[in-house]
Amino acid sequence: MASTSLESVARALVADGKGILAADETVRTITKRFDALGIASTKDSRRTYREMLFTAPGAAEFISGVIMYDETIRQRSAGGIPLAEVQSAQGIFPGIKVDTGAKPLAGSSEETITEGLDGLRDRLSEYRAMGARFAKWRAVIHVTDTLPSFACVSANAHALARYAALCQERELVPIVEPEVLMDGSHTIERCEEVTGAVLHAVFRALFEQGVVLEGMLLKPNMILSGKSSARQAPVEEVATATLRCLRRSVPAAVPGVVFLSGGQSPRLATAHLNAINRLPGSKPWKISFSYGRALQDPALDAWHGRDENLPSGQGAFYRRAHMNGAASVGTYTDEMEAGLPSIDDPLHATGGTSDTYDRIYHIGANATRSGGNDGKRAG
Ligand code: 13P
Repeated sequence: MASTSLESVARALVADGKGILAADETVRTITKRFDALGIASTKDSRRTYREMLFTAPGAAEFISGVIMYDETIRQRSAGGIPLAEVQSAQGIFPGIKVDTGAKPLAGSSEETITEGLDGLRDRLSEYRAMGARFAKWRAVIHVTDTLPSFACVSANAHALARYAALCQERELVPIVEPEVLMDGSHTIERCEEVTGAVLHAVFRALFEQGVVLEGMLLKPNMILSGKSSARQAPVEEVATATLRCLRRSVPAAVPGVVFLSGGQSPRLATAHLNAINRLPGSKPWKISFSYGRALQDPALDAWHGRDENLPSGQGAFYRRAHMNGAASVGTYTDEMEAGLPSIDDPLHATGGTSDTYDRIYHIGANATRSGGNDGKRAG
């Protein structure tokens, strides 16, 4: 296996100051997000929106790769260029979501197993020929006092490992995403306990399937209080618990950890990433972002489906990409957010001051939008 090329792509995806844009929402999920803003969801409006993001001036300085959905990788820009080429021309690696969604797990009414292994080898070859250099598969884990079940964790870990092995065989870097949801009233301690157990199961399965750790990236959740928990852990506590959990479960051979945002507000997702990178002590992997909503929500709001707003949408996207690029090397500061507050910015939304900003940091994990990943079947 030519793992050097896998390794070099994996490393380039987590180059200093860069991270990944997750723009791989299924038609169903993006339609929910468009609906919430009164934007018609058509093949063309989805293409216009994605092209707006992929061509935002300056964003390539902070964006190393873009994860697309099947519909998008087959689309062309308004100028007739395949969207994957629009990205690679800017030095951005095209990526592709290859799971076919989280389906009900047999024998458990509340849990899911992510499907998509059947025919995966052929689909990967096709995507590779279309320019994709990396892929993503998302497993979804629900947390309660008694869940997740062993069956759910082991089945999802096994599927992630089989997907990752197939990706490496086809020369695509697998992004392995076991998402422990923030939905629920669980404590931050419970999130850490479950995430640690899930990561152990995933790395055991990756080992069993012979996955080359140097040629993959891990896309985990941060360690957060449940969204409806009465106590929302502050930024420093989230950062400390997240790094502790990763150190205990992620082998040093993995080149990078790229977090999902999971429903955190854009600014909180940036602040958490920054705080994690600023912690002292050993961090054997690059720690960056692979955000969907936290990168896109301000841009989607600014665009609102109108052509005349395309430059503001691109500006809003550039801004979040810039902030997160800084957070990925621990140089993000509150002051960088000054000027041009975006619509989805918590400070802007509350008309707040820096005091409110601090308060938001303590309660902001509750800040979610309608039309989020619904955990069960969203992509
Ligand atoms: P969020 O950052 O919105 O959680 O999306 C990331 C992702 O790729 C989910 O699969």
